[in-house]
Parts: sequence; C-alpha cells; structure tokens
Amino acid sequence: MNLSDSLASDPAISGELEWAILARFTQYVLAMADGHVEVEGRAKQTSNNVFVYPLTSLTTIENHTELRFSGGVRFMGHAGMLDLPVRDPIIFIVNGLCRLEIADPDDTNARLQFASGHLVSDATTLCVDWTLDEPGSELFFYRYPSGFPIDPTIISVDGPGTTGRSSPHL
Ligand code: HEM
Repeated sequence: MNLSDSLASDPAISGELEWAILARFTQYVLAMADGHVEVEGRAKQTSNNVFVYPLTSLTTIENHTELRFSGGVRFMGHAGMLDLPVRDPIIFIVNGLCRLEIADPDDTNARLQFASGHLVSDATTLCVDWTLDEPGSELFFYRYPSGFPIDPTIISVDGPGTTGRSSPHL
C-alpha cells in the first residue's frame, strides 16, 4: 500500500498506538494514596494499563513518515504536586530512526522531544528500543535518566490494502 496519503485524504485509513509509556511509573503513581491516571479526549486505558491513542494522520513524504495520534494520559498524585500529561504523541521516522514527541506539558504551543528509537521492518512493531531523551527525562525529574528504556509502542494502521497491524513501507 502506498501510504503517502494522510487520513485527511483517505478517511478509510484508521489506526492506533498502544503504549504502556513507562509501566513502572504507572505503578509508582497508582501505589500512592491519591495517585490516579486519567485519560483525555479519544485516548483509552486498558485493564492492564496499556494506553491506546487513535491515529489522526499518517503522512509519508520520500523517506520521512509522520504518524500523529490524539488524546492524553495524565498521571496525578502527591496532592496535585505530581501532574504529568502525555498528550498527542507524534512519531517521526527518518532514515531508520524514530523520534517520539508529545505536547509540552508546560507550553500548549510547544512540543517536547520525549524518546528516540530505531525503525525495524517488523509488521507489528515499527519502532523498537525506545529510550528517553533529555527533555523526557526532565519530566520525571531525572528519576529516569536520559537513555532510560521506556515501554514498547505497537502501531497499527488499517485501511485499503492493509490487513490488521501493519507498518508504513519505508
Ligand atoms: C510531594 C512530592 C513527591 C514526593 C513526596 C515523592 C516521593 C517519592 C518517593 C518516596 C519515591 C520512591 C518510591 C519508591 O521507590 O517506591 C519516588 C519515586 C519517584 N518519583 Fe516522586 N515524589 C514526589 C513528586 C514527584 C514528581 C512531581 C514526579 C514527577 C514526575 C515524581 C517522579 C518520581 C519518579 C519517576 C520516581 C521513581 C519511580 C520508580 O521507581 O520507577 N515524583 N517519589
């Protein structure tokens, strides 16, 4: 399938990002007396704390692929002192490298470089070996350093010419 279309031009394409983000952080938050996780917008939470963000657009131009997802997951606790939203992830894939940005929690107009990974030609995985980048590490008050492994992403794209989970061909 030629994925140089975006959802805007091909509404038959749909997909999602399944991602636990950082399971040990979720456990830390949920272990607090007032700790909880909220999902926002069209994001969903599964019973085993994997979060699902729907795909809103997919664009491929030459060797550059961009997958945009919507919704948010908000980690809260410590009487409001901990409030960490992971909103509107975008995955950029260029020259075999994957880059994951989220909305900057401190600036609604800015993006934050959360993690980096590597492209694999695996039909279900797409990007592997995600590790935190420095701005992502800062969100956790550096309790997880830059380079710290985070949970895998599972990206699915469904539409004409695709069957179930699939990856853009790059
Ligand atoms: C009143 C404020 C806070 C207190 C009293 C507090 C206390 C603690 C304590 C006692 C631990 C060790 C827990 C354990 O090992 O089970 C911890 C771990 C941690 N805290 Fe906080 N914390 C606070 C705020 C925050 C904030 C705002 C963040 C930002 C995201 C944060 C991120 C973390 C992380 C990432 C860990 C490591 C969890 C892990 O083991 O994976 N904390 N905190």
